[in-house]
Amino acid sequence: MGNTSDLRPEVDSSRERARCWYQQPDLVPIARAHDAKVEPLYSAFVADKIADLGLDTPDIIDIGCGEGILATLIDDFNSYIGIDPDGSDLHTNTVKSPDNVQFVRASVEGIPSTVHCADVIVSSLNVALWDDPARRCAELRGRLRPSGHLLIVDLMRVGPRLMRSADEKLSQFLIDQHNVSLTREDVDAICRTSLPGADVSIFEDKSDAIVPSDGATSNYGNLFLIHYRKA
Ligand SMILES: C[S@@+](CC[C@H](N)C(=O)[O-])C[C@H]1O[C@@H](n2cnc3c(N)ncnc32)[C@H](O)[C@@H]1O
Repeated sequence: MGNTSDLRPEVDSSRERARCWYQQPDLVPIARAHDAKVEPLYSAFVADKIADLGLDTPDIIDIGCGEGILATLIDDFNSYIGIDPDGSDLHTNTVKSPDNVQFVRASVEGIPSTVHCADVIVSSLNVALWDDPARRCAELRGRLRPSGHLLIVDLMRVGPRLMRSADEKLSQFLIDQHNVSLTREDVDAICRTSLPGADVSIFEDKSDAIVPSDGATSNYGNLFLIHYRKA
């Protein structure tokens, strides 16, 4: 098995719906307004995890970087490349980035060859939007330097998929994202096929903090962290 879609064929059309929120001009503002409230917490979480690696000025690639909040939260890096298909012109505006920060408009499915290897590759809150997470993880592994780290954080689905019947757009956005979120089984399958030896940890989003999960299975607020280290 090399494709998480093999597990749930219905996910392909759901994923198209979930991705639309980051592509269609009328939908992007709803997604971005929602995300702006949660991204700082998740970016700080990822920044802490990178700091825990204890690396000396790493080269970092941030897949699905959004605004690139992460770059502002990491103390010391040699280079940061934020990659995002970005349907909302986030990085064509007037804010000037430091010389060691670069943004590339691309999806994980089409990273240009000009983006080279890194010591750390991270993805926060977007692996569920990738066309084929197992395949892309294998490709990202190939972009890691020896001893490099891949960190992937996203929401984990515990309960069933939801009917897509909400009238209100924000509710519809949340349902569409929920329906593509990965289950624990999906995460384990990705690791088994593409990230052998990776650690998976489960956390809980308490809205003002992300804390290790106590094992209770609520349908919302669970997240996973995949940490793969290249030999
Ligand atoms: C919830 S935002 C997370 C942004 C950022 N990682 C953060 O936490 O601040 C999801 C991001 O994934 C991006 N995205 C959507 N599909 C993608 C794909 N196929 N490859 C890479 N990024 C993608 C979107 O454009 C959006 O910026």
